[in-house]
Amino acid sequence: MTEKIVLVNEDGIRTDGRKLSELRPIKLEVGILSNADGSAYIEQGKNKILAAVYGPREVHPRHMALPDRALLRCRYHMAPFSVEERKSPAPSRREVELSKVIREAFEPAIFLEKFPRTSIDLFIEVLQADGGTRCAGVTVASLALADAGIPMKDLIVACAAGKAGGHLVLDLNDIEDKEGEADIPVAYMPSFNAVSLLQMDGLLTIEEFQQAINLALEGCKQIYALQKEALKAKYQAIKESTEVTEEE
Ligand code: CDP
Repeated sequence: MTEKIVLVNEDGIRTDGRKLSELRPIKLEVGILSNADGSAYIEQGKNKILAAVYGPREVHPRHMALPDRALLRCRYHMAPFSVEERKSPAPSRREVELSKVIREAFEPAIFLEKFPRTSIDLFIEVLQADGGTRCAGVTVASLALADAGIPMKDLIVACAAGKAGGHLVLDLNDIEDKEGEADIPVAYMPSFNAVSLLQMDGLLTIEEFQQAINLALEGCKQIYALQKEALKAKYQAIKESTEVTEEE
């Protein structure tokens, strides 16, 4: 008989030492790849994810071009070494689904109509996965889009909440995702108080569902502040380096 994993102990502490409504430590960096038009990197707990953006640029193949707006394409991909058991590098059904829902999460935010007949290509590369990669992927992709200078109504930020070990928890890690009772990833546009991605697996009462959504949105608001700081840090660094050059 397999032993049941204790996801939350009597003190309300989770397997990775967090409190129930605590995010994993997050590190964000903007503009780290020189060959892409925009790029960013996120570490959220053990997740390590890169995002890169090309565009707006000419569409290939040309027949895919849209006369009235830019074509947004998204590829979410997990490196073969990103998970415990080697993953085939070929796109899985899961990756095809995630690429679609992430693209749809961004469509309402980007001024696509400003760039007819062009494409904006968004790549999300998961280097190390530990649960919640679609959310961390959205958060980092938003920064890569901003870094590429793509005009957006707002940054999109994403975070999951759910239930593990009988408790509502924020920002589920891999074991909570797999062994827990429910997981609700949410992508959010804070300035519009609007949600552009909402998925759920597992079982919750309606009351728990409402509480979990609110918890996820609280998480999103905290991460949104970090996104803005990361963007400012990049431009501060550029400002300082140009000031030094001017002085020389
Ligand atoms: O990553 P996210 O929670 O958005 O998606 P998921 O389909 O709920 O996957 C949860 C976690 O399962 C991932 O973050 C990975 O840590 C793990 N996973 C895995 O171990 N092997 C895969 N082929 C896919 C996912």
